[in-house]
Amino acid sequence: MNNFNFYSPTYFIFGKGRENEAGKYVKRFGGTKVLLHFGGSSAIKSGLLDRVKNSLNGEDISFVELGGVMPNPRSGLVYKGIDICKKESIDFVLAVGGGSVIDSAKAIAAGALYEGDFWDFYTGKKVEKALPVATILTIAAAGSEGSSSTVITHENGMLKRSAEGNALRPVFSILNPELTFTLPAYQTACGITDMMAHVLERYFTNTQEVEITDRLCEGILLTIIKEAPVAISEPTSYGAHANIMWAGMVAHNDICGVGREQDWATHQMEHELSALYDVAHGAGLAVMFPAWMKFVMNHDVMRFAQFAVRVWGCEMDFQHPETTAKEGIAKFEQFLISIGMPVRFAELGAKAEDIPTLVKNMRLGNHTVGSFVKLTEKDVTEIYKLAV
Ligand code: NZQ
Ligand code: ZN
Repeated sequence: MNNFNFYSPTYFIFGKGRENEAGKYVKRFGGTKVLLHFGGSSAIKSGLLDRVKNSLNGEDISFVELGGVMPNPRSGLVYKGIDICKKESIDFVLAVGGGSVIDSAKAIAAGALYEGDFWDFYTGKKVEKALPVATILTIAAAGSEGSSSTVITHENGMLKRSAEGNALRPVFSILNPELTFTLPAYQTACGITDMMAHVLERYFTNTQEVEITDRLCEGILLTIIKEAPVAISEPTSYGAHANIMWAGMVAHNDICGVGREQDWATHQMEHELSALYDVAHGAGLAVMFPAWMKFVMNHDVMRFAQFAVRVWGCEMDFQHPETTAKEGIAKFEQFLISIGMPVRFAELGAKAEDIPTLVKNMRLGNHTVGSFVKLTEKDVTEIYKLAV
């Protein structure tokens, strides 16, 4: 196991009706003037936004509203939010929504305390300070409610990039599984795929002697595999959605990734897909992850066999471990299909002839991406082709 620091300061408020306590917690965490940030229409239609406003009013906390965050959130609204924060002396950002709203809120919170262009953070500058951000989560997926990262697409060039910094970890996150009951099945499945991908980016590692995090990863995956079909077929089953919601958080606050090298090549390849075609992040991952696995499997057949046996219940073929390894990948792909995910380019609306553009947009040059296997531009091209 490698040396590590682990900082996860978020205060989690989990369960039915907990969004009605938003005002109390904003006050407790020092917010006096709030930017209330939300997405398109779901939080308005469900009445959630009104409940949150009532809660803020109940504590005499003033707020300025900024809605309209799109999936794959854009830079334009971030600039607008930063401007509002500076002009209105906002001291707290409250995100009501999914990963896109939360990521937009984090970008605004960092930009509000920065004199330069907030995009600097998405091109390599570490975020050292930000206004406090809190979240009321409406979709279990990205894990941004507990993570130190944010992903934004810049409209100039449609580049989708991420920024990092512990200052971006939410001060509190309210997780009420009932808020996810209104999600379309497809969106629930996209979220489930994303959280599985967050575990897998950590699971496939070259670091040795990491049994604790291996087992945590496997436990999260087994939970998701059990609960996902219920959550999708019974949109109001509280138990399944509660387990899925917490799985999405532990999959990405890094508790299962500390002390080990992590990969993240698949996420970067997916970000190019969602930047070019504006597809849901989870759907793009469902297409890219099996392709990546097929390409890198021979690098460590025994790790893939372990994944097959411990997560998918395959029987170990000691004579031919590669057979077991392949079986695990096939079961994973079958699972994705069973929850309604696309697994090939055409199902996403992606085109083989765009592969050179996708690769070029990654701007790898002579660099590589990933750590389990360090992928060159040529490798990435092959993986995209496997996804076709
Ligand atoms: O805008 P509204 O109307 O709310 O609709 C949203 C949106 O269309 C809808 N939705 C959300 N909650 C709902 C609901 N509809 C009905 N009922 C509800 N309760 O769902 C759609 C998708 O929302 P979005 O926030 O985009 O989904 P998700 O949470 O999957 O976030 C995806 C974004 O997160 C980034 C992705 O790249 C993508 O941009 N990621 C962020 C990470 C992070 N910050 O740590 C890590 C991830 O790897 C990921 O890259
Ligand atoms: Zn993701």
